[in-house]
Amino acid sequence: MQKRIFIKTLGCQMNEYDSNRIYDSVKRLGFEKSQDQDNLDCYVLNTCHIRDKAKEKVYHEIGRVKKLYRKKNKPIVVVAGCVAQAENQEMLNREPYIDIVIGPQSYHKINDKLKNFIKGDKIEETDFDTVSKFNYFDNIGNKNNKVSSYLTIQEGCDKFCSFCVVPYTRGPEYSRPFNKIISEAENLIKNGVKEIILLGQNVNAYTFKEKIKEYRISDIINTLSSYSELKRIRYTTSHPRDMTDDLIESYQENSKLMPLVHLPVQSGSNKILKLMNRKHTVEQYVEIYERLKKINPKIEFSSDFIISYPGETDNDFNDTISLIKKIKFINSFSFIFSPRPGTKAANLVQIDKEVSKERLLKTQKNLFKFQLDMNKSFINRPIDVLVENKMDGQKKFFGRNQYMNSVIFEGNENYIGKNINIKIDNVNQNSLFGKIEKKMRAA
Ligand code: SAM
Ligand code: SF4
Ligand code: F3S
Repeated sequence: MQKRIFIKTLGCQMNEYDSNRIYDSVKRLGFEKSQDQDNLDCYVLNTCHIRDKAKEKVYHEIGRVKKLYRKKNKPIVVVAGCVAQAENQEMLNREPYIDIVIGPQSYHKINDKLKNFIKGDKIEETDFDTVSKFNYFDNIGNKNNKVSSYLTIQEGCDKFCSFCVVPYTRGPEYSRPFNKIISEAENLIKNGVKEIILLGQNVNAYTFKEKIKEYRISDIINTLSSYSELKRIRYTTSHPRDMTDDLIESYQENSKLMPLVHLPVQSGSNKILKLMNRKHTVEQYVEIYERLKKINPKIEFSSDFIISYPGETDNDFNDTISLIKKIKFINSFSFIFSPRPGTKAANLVQIDKEVSKERLLKTQKNLFKFQLDMNKSFINRPIDVLVENKMDGQKKFFGRNQYMNSVIFEGNENYIGKNINIKIDNVNQNSLFGKIEKKMRAA
């Protein structure tokens, strides 16, 4: 009999990829993905620990499910992801409604745990068994058939920025074998995928040695670009220290590699970068930007910023604003520093809340200005859009331009998965709106 499973995914793209792989896995046990949260046999919460009250959000969410099932048979409740890894047994002790706690490097055990689950069991799986996990999922095959698909090539982090939980929740850096990545990509392309977004916590730290050959992310990008059905390649999230010459040069040779570089800088002050243990300077960052711009002037940057890291003075903060004005990032994330348990920065003296809020507002005002300027620059221009889907309950369709902006237009189902030219007539901060300009491109 078919069983119903629902996975609620919080956090980064990597969690989205993982949730899809979990669906691929549990399908073998007869679980079907449910569109709603009623009458489930299994509810999975895939969690993120990066900021704020991550742990409390999880208990809140589980409380909501508990309420929903007050008068019904409860589903098997699974907490997965980075909070599961960080809190492990503690979660089962605190909230008896949770049945299974499973960390990101133990997902290959999920079928076994669900198949043998007996009411009343309390299960905790938080080993860092990354190799077995990927071997298991390699055998299952990636069933994603959306126009744009994630593909994790690397996981974990050895960099230990002082503010960040990722090295503790995802474990040490691991790069998947090159041939396994290419096979998974081939599978996705056969399924109809037109854009692949390579993923890793430090995706450009990817290194895989086989005999005398050392594969880097540039090898993956260049190999993938030879598949004619694949139209676009992106990657995220990269670290400035791993922006090697081969990757920079890929932007010269490879027209399928999209011209938006998401390269988190965190701060525009060398003093703060040092305190953060980022292992790069502002000057090195700017040099990468200038080299890439020289190779292809169409390249634009986006970034992540942490505002009010402990010790950030007005001068340090102004250095961040100056960097934003220099690079003119077109789409960035900015957050006030959030102390994370277990990290080096957890107990540092924090900057006054009001000052932090003011700094965040100023940062976002500057970032949004450049974002809107960039969006306005598309007005009256035909741009290349890869059409992804129909919008819920509307006649409109949705796609993305090369810079990841959502583009909304009226069309029909035949355009899905195709590159078309859209003439933009209106924009806001997040989206571009337009009309189909010409006939579909032959490509
Ligand atoms: N590996 C990427 C890098 O090196 O930049 C970042 C990955 S992290 C999952 C995504 C973003 O979350 C970071 O770039 C940082 O801006 C933000 N972040 C991480 N820890 C944070 C904290 N304690 N407080 C606020 N923001 C944080
Ligand atoms: Fe976190 Fe730093 Fe690793 Fe990025 S490089 S995942 S910010 S520790
Ligand atoms: Fe969050 Fe873990 Fe991703 S902490 S940002 S889900 S790696």
